[in-house]
Amino acid sequence: MFKTIDHIAIATDDIDGALSVYRDIFGIAVTDRRVFKELGVEVASLRIGESCIEFVKPLDKDSKVAKFLQERGEGIHHIAFQVEDIEKSIEELKAKGIQIVSDGIKKGIEGKRIAFLHPKSCHGVLIELCEIQTHLFEKKHDRGT
Ligand code: CO
Repeated sequence: MFKTIDHIAIATDDIDGALSVYRDIFGIAVTDRRVFKELGVEVASLRIGESCIEFVKPLDKDSKVAKFLQERGEGIHHIAFQVEDIEKSIEELKAKGIQIVSDGIKKGIEGKRIAFLHPKSCHGVLIELCEIQTHLFEKKHDRGT
């Protein structure tokens, strides 16, 4: 069902501080750093192999990530798995008793369609499903040729 780990998201109030470790000491390349106003976060993405580490900093104190930081401090916020068809994956997971976070499918950064699985169903870890549409396009293209 899951192709690869798309990203691991780490909540932080200090992206510069995080980069001084993950980029400067660990040597992981920063591929993007941007403010996503509509999502209320600043995100720095570091690529390692097929996956990314995303540092997520909340822009306002009422966001879910801000609450996470207040309650738990810095740390891993969620793990995102790539899926090719998010509706189909959700259907399959629901049928197997996995609880989907109530707001369902929404737009993540760069317009990717995402959904979250409830930590109660995943041994305490918030899991994101992240639809990678290029796979769909490649597949459709392959079928047509
Ligand atoms: Co994410």
